[in-house]
Amino acid sequence: NAKPRILSLDGPAGSGKSTVAGIIARRLGCLHADSGAIYRSLTYACMQLLGEQASPEEFGRVFLEQTPDPHGFALRVDYDNGKQLHYLNEEELGLKIRTPSVTARIRYIADHAQYRNRVNELLRELGAKTALIVDGRDIGTVVFPDTPFKFYLDAAVRTRAERRRKELIESGMEAPSLEELEKQIADRDEQDRNRKIGALQIPPGAILIDTSNIDRDMVVSGILAHLQEQF
Ligand code: CDP
Ligand code: CDP
Repeated sequence: NAKPRILSLDGPAGSGKSTVAGIIARRLGCLHADSGAIYRSLTYACMQLLGEQASPEEFGRVFLEQTPDPHGFALRVDYDNGKQLHYLNEEELGLKIRTPSVTARIRYIADHAQYRNRVNELLRELGAKTALIVDGRDIGTVVFPDTPFKFYLDAAVRTRAERRRKELIESGMEAPSLEELEKQIADRDEQDRNRKIGALQIPPGAILIDTSNIDRDMVVSGILAHLQEQF
């Protein structure tokens, strides 16, 4: 069977998906496709076109009123040495897609069917060409429901907030209190679990891994053990 292979890795924010997906992709010699980063790039593109507006709610209102065609953006996803890069009008976006302003506005884009379809189309085009580890929220349920290789990572809200806080502190950024971060994560979980399409859920048949009390290397070896060299 020469069909390119797909491994789906779903779970809530901070469960360790991108870290683990990156390591596994390197080990198995395939690409790590980060679907959240594509949602971020489309959000950034909409902000360039529509303006950031005064508040995320105002941005959401303008976005729903005008809803630019997601195919209309000159957005390109590429890979360099395993790193996923995002180009808008041939400018590489880098960390511009990771600002709090993008994060606060992404929900409007992630809730929109046309935009979800656009992301899914990009991922499937890529998956038709090459083997992928894809991390996201709806990869095993919506984007690649037929893949036999499905995993779901989870961790307690407190643990995920502690990880986020550690990351912020280590990168020299100002970190909100643990309570505040817990609240932000719980809010995002709520949005991700309750969206009408592409909601976060455990895909039928997925292997569940709770990462609350294990480090990334244990998660990686757990997944590799499950694959038993079949991937
Ligand atoms: O992609 P996702 O939002 O699911 O999580 P991530 O960005 O990969 O991981 C969030 C943080 O948790 C990173 O700093 C990881 O190094 C850390 N992590 C961990 O402490 N233990 C794990 N088993 C997995 C990730
Ligand atoms: O910030 P973090 O790394 O945890 O999240 P991300 O993976 O970069 O995803 C950003 C946002 O995009 C998430 O909060 C989800 O709402 C949305 N997303 C989605 O709706 N579907 C996906 N397959 C991936 C991300």
